[in-house]
Order: sequence, then structure tokens, then C-alpha cells
Amino acid sequence: MEIRKVGVIGCGAMGAGITQVVLQGGYDVIVREMNETLLSKGLERVKASFEKLVSKQALTRESAETILKRLSGTVSLEPLADCDLIIEAIFENLEAKMDQFKALDKICKQETVFASNTSSLSITEMAAGTSRKEQFIGMHFFQPAPIMPLVEVVRTISVGPELLKTSLDFVKSLGKVVILAKDQAGFIVNLLFTPFMLDAMRAAANGVASIEDIDRGMKLGLNHPMGPLMLADYIGLDLIFNAGNVMFEEYRESRYAPPPILKKMVTMGYLGLKTKRGFYDWSESKNPRPMDLNG
Ligand SMILES: NC(=O)c1ccc[n+]([C@@H]2O[C@H](COP(=O)([O-])OP(=O)(O)OC[C@H]3O[C@@H](n4cnc5c(N)ncnc54)[C@H](O)[C@@H]3O)[C@@H](O)[C@H]2O)c1
Repeated sequence: MEIRKVGVIGCGAMGAGITQVVLQGGYDVIVREMNETLLSKGLERVKASFEKLVSKQALTRESAETILKRLSGTVSLEPLADCDLIIEAIFENLEAKMDQFKALDKICKQETVFASNTSSLSITEMAAGTSRKEQFIGMHFFQPAPIMPLVEVVRTISVGPELLKTSLDFVKSLGKVVILAKDQAGFIVNLLFTPFMLDAMRAAANGVASIEDIDRGMKLGLNHPMGPLMLADYIGLDLIFNAGNVMFEEYRESRYAPPPILKKMVTMGYLGLKTKRGFYDWSESKNPRPMDLNG
């Protein structure tokens, strides 16, 4: 399987980052968005990122212009029919993702490989909804994709050695470090990290220590760049709530169950940095202050 033309579905935070990385890997990229407004917003996001690289002198203007000639956009699916690989990065909803793949399945050439960048949904379910179960893989990039060095490749029980090799080689050709996971909720990184954040939330809610001391303890005691509660605010509490629920649903182990404090915060719309309130008050984003969890 040779990959030359890559389709990216959805050009939000992840889709735009993945587009940049794949372009820099030397591939042609066609991006699909829902409508013209979102498409130009997404393409602008990619272009702005290259502009930043030029201004930092990490890339010459000529190179950036040459790379961007390999980028195109569409609001329909037909122009993706001849892609060798399609990476889906739309919002985290199984039905919506399956609808996209079913529609693409009807129009794409036989050899096209489908990949999903989902963080928590089942690759097996998505693959089983298409006629190309053997050509369906998970490719989980981390945010921000151009900076984070890791990609989890996720194999279902239908993935054979050829697709596996193609996928691993493709990810390596992007300059990323690849790790291989079975298709099970959380893959590797979220499987191990989500219960760690949920435990920190339980400890804070139970009054084991203050938010600041829990974060300070894990940061300085384990030499982590930041504590789990602050990181949870950066990631988005709604995403962690969702991931915990998906893993609890799959494994039925209490460590994956979101604690009541998380549910209350998500219900109130306190989602972390993006809403300026989570475990910290982010109204001065450079000076986050721990919240009082009692009100
Ligand atoms: N944000 C993260 O930290 C992160 C990390 C790894 C993986 N992911 C996964 O990546 C995926 C995307 O997340 P995101 O943070 O980029 O979301 P986002 O909301 O920033 O972007 C989603 C984009 O998809 C577009 N879209 C929705 N339906 C579409 C369709 N049918 N066709 C084309 N475009 C469509 C939306 O207009 C939006 O621009 C999710 O599955 C998420 O779980 C996210």
C-alpha cells in the first residue's frame, strides 16, 4: 500500500494540526469541513500555523509556500474518493463518525485506508459499519499534533500485517514516535492517565489536601510538568468526564467512574480553561487560582 494523497475530515483543533503534520511529511492533503465558513476557518488555521513557523525562522517562506500548494479543501466527500488514506477528526460522536465512514465507504476506491483519531470511541464499531474492516485503523494523535511527538496506532482484530506495516511506516514518516495498542477503551495513554486524574479529583473533593497541594505534590514528587488537576483544566473537564464514562462502561471498574464532583462541574458548565473555571479560576489565565470546591 502506497500513501500519497491523504484526506482529513474535520479541520478543528486536531484536524488542522494533523493536516499540518501530514503536509510537512510530504503528502498531498485534502481537508473536508461541514460548510464553506468552517472550511476557510480551518484552512486559515493551518496557514497561520505555517506563517508562525516562518516568523520563527523554523521554515523559509518559499518552503511554506511550496508545502501549502499540496493543500486543498472541500465541503463535499467526492473529492476524497481517490485518497490513499483518510484520517477522520470530527467531534467525538460515534454516530456522526460512522455516518461519515459509511458515506466514504460508498465512494472511495477499494484500496483507501480509513483511520479515526478518536480518543475514546470504538474503532471496531466504526470498522464493522463499513465494508472495509481489514482496512480500518485507529491513529490517535495528541494535542497539539504538530508539537506532541506521540501517535498511538490502534489495531482491531481485523487488521492484518500489511495494513499494520503501512500505518506504522506512515506515522514514522511524519517524524512521530508510534506506539501500538489493541482496540480497547482508552488505548494506552488515556487508559492509564484518566484514573490518575479522577483519583486526584476524588482526593480534592474528599479534602485529602488542597487543590494546590495535590498538584504541587504530583508535580514535584513525580517530576511532572504540571499537576493532574491543572492538566485536567487544560484538557477540558467534559472530555475527561466523557472518557471516564466510556471506560467505566467497557471495564466496569470503579477507578474509571467519574466522581460526583466532576459530574457537578460539567453539569454547571465549569469545563476548565476553556470556560475560565474548573479546578482553577482562569480569569487571569497567567495566574490561575485554585477554586473552593464547596461553592
Ligand atoms: N482535542 C484533543 O485534545 C484531542 C486529542 C486527541 C484526539 N482528539 C479527538 O479528535 C477528534 C476531534 O477533536 P477536536 O478537539 O479537533 O474537535 P473540534 O471540535 O475542535 O473539531 C471538530 C471539527 O470537525 C468538524 N466536523 C464535524 N462534523 C463534520 C463532518 N461531518 N464533516 C467534516 N467536518 C466535520 C467541525 O466543524 C469541527 O471543525 C475527536 O474525536 C477527539 O476525541 C482530540
